[in-house]
Amino acid sequence: MFVSFEGVDGVGKSTQARLLVGALRAAGRDVVECREPGGTVVGERVRDLLLSDHGVPLGPRTEALLFAASRAQLTAEVIEPALARGAWVVCDRFLDSSVAYQGGGRQLGEEAVRAVSLFATAGRLPDVTVLLVGDPYRTTATDRIESESDLFRTRVRASFDALGQGGSERVVLVAAAGAETEVQQRVWAALAL
Ligand code: TYD
Repeated sequence: MFVSFEGVDGVGKSTQARLLVGALRAAGRDVVECREPGGTVVGERVRDLLLSDHGVPLGPRTEALLFAASRAQLTAEVIEPALARGAWVVCDRFLDSSVAYQGGGRQLGEEAVRAVSLFATAGRLPDVTVLLVGDPYRTTATDRIESESDLFRTRVRASFDALGQGGSERVVLVAAAGAETEVQQRVWAALAL
């Protein structure tokens, strides 16, 4: 079972991914936890290229391809072997983040970015994507992408809204408001666990 968590920066994805992993492990499941970008040696180096300020501008297409490269490595090296042995995979962000941030935010086009991502993952998609919906509580920018303009963030949010309203069977919407444990219960219920 492959679950991804998606949503805007600061909505609580990473916390909820971690809580789900803990709960699944407590229930005796074999769980592989991963994050994007990163999650492999190559991917962590790509992550550094993507999120640090190197003093030179990173082109939007370069950015999209680097996210895809990190995802390709993570899929081949970590996700596919885990799924093949029957483990759960819980991923903090996956290709919907590229569609929202690079396709929507950077205006590269959602379909083009989705196609690049699907090439990277050889067609692999999560079985379930938990889309956390709510107002982000964190406003302090910590990396190059989080420091983007309000307009950029508005486009990213619109793209995630479109994902939520797109009628995809894989996507489940979970309200992010409230205590962490309340949200965790909603996630658990949404996954029908
Ligand atoms: P992440 O470390 O997950 O940030 P956070 O923990 O705050 O959610 O992701 C770093 C940034 O990278 C975040 O602003 C979202 C962005 N991002 C993209 O722009 N495209 C992508 O494909 C992914 C996976 C992340």
